[in-house]
Amino acid sequence: MSASPLSQAGKVTIPGILEKKNQHQPITCLTAYDYATSRLVDEAGIDMILVGDSLAMVVLGYENTLPVTVDEMLHHTRAVRRAVKRALVIADMPYASYHVDEKAAVKSAIRFVKEGGAEAVKLEGGEKRVDLVKRILDAEIPVMGHIGLTPQSVHRMGGFKVQGKTLSAIESLTRDAVALDRAGVFSIVLEGIPREVAAMITDEVEAPTIGIGAGPACDGQVLVINDLLNLSFNPAAKFVRQYADAAGLISNAVQSFKADVEARLFPSDGESYHLTKETQAVLETIRSRKRAMMR
Ligand code: KIV
Repeated sequence: MSASPLSQAGKVTIPGILEKKNQHQPITCLTAYDYATSRLVDEAGIDMILVGDSLAMVVLGYENTLPVTVDEMLHHTRAVRRAVKRALVIADMPYASYHVDEKAAVKSAIRFVKEGGAEAVKLEGGEKRVDLVKRILDAEIPVMGHIGLTPQSVHRMGGFKVQGKTLSAIESLTRDAVALDRAGVFSIVLEGIPREVAAMITDEVEAPTIGIGAGPACDGQVLVINDLLNLSFNPAAKFVRQYADAAGLISNAVQSFKADVEARLFPSDGESYHLTKETQAVLETIRSRKRAMMR
């Protein structure tokens, strides 16, 4: 087995991620939003954990990613940070945190590092984000790009639709990827694009490409953890592989709890705390004296 390029003590770093591309080793990334899940993802050896703004949909129950705020994202980034020792923690910049003015955007990115403990931020968009990417990099914050099906553009796209299907769309996606690469992003998420286009972009850029619904030629793959676990309450997209049925597991456990409580089968004596025999005896004496006085 060849040595992992992930630096001392196995901590995943930005140079380690770049090195993985150079050594043709697949990069793994999952989203996570809370302490327990992040601990399991980290302990399983996943390279990067993205506190994605998909939080809005899979954790907070919104229809799309637009409503989630910087403060909400920070709250979850801190929980993830407390859990993760090895993986690279990336915070997703939510809608409107970088769309109005660049100074405010840099300030938000800084908050994710300073208050959230993130080691990098992600933002959506290609060529039009180049100046902003450079400013965030100037603040010493690594940036992950995200192009293709960018969920924050849901209204412009007219829904969550596969992108990059026409020649002009392919050309513009490629320009976006190259522009982000030149600006210095450390990786680029390619979401919802034909595998052939993702393969072409992956060949064209130095930054590792991380695919989601972009086929197998990307340098790495990311999935929303709730999709992988069947915990998102939506029909799974074509690109999702469900590795477990957490919804089934949780439903069965909850139904069993309900049935046991209703049948007085929970808790059992073994699941209860007990007084010592001596204290029980004293307590019984006191209670019988009280009963005698009441008569
Ligand atoms: O928010 C998110 O989960 C994402 C991934 C789908 C890449 O942006």
